[in-house]
Amino acid sequence: MRKKVIAGNWKMNMLPNEAINFIEEFAPLVKDTKHEVILCVPYTNLFYCLLNIQGTNIKIGAQNMHWEESGAYTGEVSGQMLKSIGVEYVIIGHSERRQYFAETDETVNKKIKSALNVGLKPIVCVGETLEQREKGITEQVITNQVEKAFEGIETTDLEKIIIAYEPIWAIGTGKTATKEDANNTIMQIRKKLAEKYGQNEANGVIIQYGGSVKSSNAKELFEMSDIDGGLVGGASLKAEEFSKIVKFDE
Ligand code: PGA
Repeated sequence: MRKKVIAGNWKMNMLPNEAINFIEEFAPLVKDTKHEVILCVPYTNLFYCLLNIQGTNIKIGAQNMHWEESGAYTGEVSGQMLKSIGVEYVIIGHSERRQYFAETDETVNKKIKSALNVGLKPIVCVGETLEQREKGITEQVITNQVEKAFEGIETTDLEKIIIAYEPIWAIGTGKTATKEDANNTIMQIRKKLAEKYGQNEANGVIIQYGGSVKSSNAKELFEMSDIDGGLVGGASLKAEEFSKIVKFDE
């Protein structure tokens, strides 16, 4: 049985004092959950969060990284840098990065490899636009993204990777994919992985849903056969609301 992994994506929100207050309120609320809980926070909050989650069951992730270990890349942060301070996860290829910062399937692939190299666990985002969905090419788009993201990734690395299926039209819009739709697309992703790595391996991969997840819809989504938790944006900014999402089955 796959575990459920619920990750918050704070995006470009929260100052350090707000992050510290959040963890103070949030940690006791989720301390007994059997699910994995991750907070993906802005770079400037990483260190504060890492200090403040000590002794809790919360894990910390970053929201992006560069694929080179070091060098003349002004403004960038490498996987090695993240790993060196104790970061465990990193979101890679979020649609906002693809859309506003020109990330491509190729850079996503390089970043995944680089993250794995330094021992970070990537949360790899894939998802279709509204236009692609309306054209009926969702499956094609998603499987193509998965194929390119996983190019050259070894079977032994699969267990370190989380995939987040996030339909772009559902992000921050209040529109959620139906649980059946989300589950079906995630099954397609798993099928694609099975073709490449074998059914057993594919069955072990954690695949989350993301896009307007909130406490009122988390349960129905996360109880679907192939949805292994969620990547949560807006609703992860409030400790109580996010704790209810983590505890969707209590
Ligand atoms: P949302 O964002 O929950 O605010 O829709 C999800 C995401 O972008 O990861």
